[in-house]
Amino acid sequence: MEVGPKGVIEAYPHRNKESRGFFISFEGTESSGKTTQAKQLRDWLESQGFSVILTREPGGTPLGEEIRSFLLDHSNGEICPLTEAYLFAAARAQLVMTIIRPALEAGTTVICDRYIDSSLAYQGYGLGVSLATIWKVNEPAIDLAMPDLTFLLGSGALLQSAMKKEPEDRIEARDSGFHQRVRAGYVRLMKRFPQRIVWVDTRRGVAPTACDIQRKVAGLINL
Ligand code: TYD
Repeated sequence: MEVGPKGVIEAYPHRNKESRGFFISFEGTESSGKTTQAKQLRDWLESQGFSVILTREPGGTPLGEEIRSFLLDHSNGEICPLTEAYLFAAARAQLVMTIIRPALEAGTTVICDRYIDSSLAYQGYGLGVSLATIWKVNEPAIDLAMPDLTFLLGSGALLQSAMKKEPEDRIEARDSGFHQRVRAGYVRLMKRFPQRIVWVDTRRGVAPTACDIQRKVAGLINL
């Protein structure tokens, strides 16, 4: 068992019965094209008549954006892994309570650029916080709001980023070992949750990738 106490994530309903909106998250390494694809999916769903909220983590609320700035700011140096996990979870709790849960309950589809899998991959596999601890910290923050579908984006077998660029923030600037553990962690999460996490290879370019994602979502929402 890799994630949390035995069966804990699986014990949660795939979709909270009270929520009527669909919840879709995007995951991947830096520059994997998540943000572009999340926007494409929002535009497509809106063109199909859905009411959609696109948000991101960390952030998406005024408090969450403050926490984001703190977490990504180079000048804050290293933060203890557990503290970091709590800070991401705090931003997540604020986003879930004020945006995600009300939207789902109102029947709005929510698209989130990163969610709990980022904490499992980065703070868990990347920094070595136990996955059980990540889950314990996040369980109240998520409050049963688990995505119906998660797209894991990347190019190539090991989720390499499409573009090589200078690190822009405190987390991107970590060593290659950290980023390798994150990538391997994502692969393990995908194998662990094959019903929810769908791998999308972005090498064919933006438009074909967007079509692949639309096909999967159409299956989910019976379009
Ligand atoms: P961002 O600029 O949004 O990265 P990207 O463009 O790759 O999505 O920065 C978010 C960073 O925060 C990214 O490096 C991943 C990291 N992160 C965590 O470490 N844990 C988390 O729970 C979340 C949501 C993000």
